[in-house]
Amino acid sequence: MKQIFFTLFLCLLCTASAHAALKVIGSGDNKQLDPAGFPPVMKSSYQLMQTKCTSCHTLDRVVSALQTGIAPTTLLEFNKKTARDHCMKMARKPHANISQQDAKTITELLYYLIDEAAKK
Ligand code: HEC
Repeated sequence: MKQIFFTLFLCLLCTASAHAALKVIGSGDNKQLDPAGFPPVMKSSYQLMQTKCTSCHTLDRVVSALQTGIAPTTLLEFNKKTARDHCMKMARKPHANISQQDAKTITELLYYLIDEAAKK
């Protein structure tokens, strides 16, 4: 009986990952998201993030944070409560070249992506 439950549990896990709403392409440092299914506004925000957030590191940091809920370098929580602070911290870094408006647009994209990541 236990085995049946375990098998069912495994099946559930598989279906969950097959329908996970974040489509990740590439691996390691080249990890990024496939924006094909994003609403148009989020597609252009994703382009902005690709331009603004890859001058110091790759998008792998963002994708990992979205996948795990943990920001990869400091191991601080990465969720709707903290995403804005993470984004603002990046914008304040020397030579970041990220305006307040850019940071706001990218924060809203992060909120959208956090919701998508939570969908099964
Ligand atoms: C000026 C260089 C620079 C730019 C531009 C930059 N980052 Fe970073 N990022 C860093 C550095 C350095 C770290 C590691 C130290 C830290 O966490 O502050 C980092 C770490 C991160 C982390 C992990 C944070 C943690 O607490 O573990 C995330 C997520 C992240 N960046 C996202 C972004 C996003 C989103 C953008 C665009 C809005 C961006 N970065 C733009 C330099 C940059």
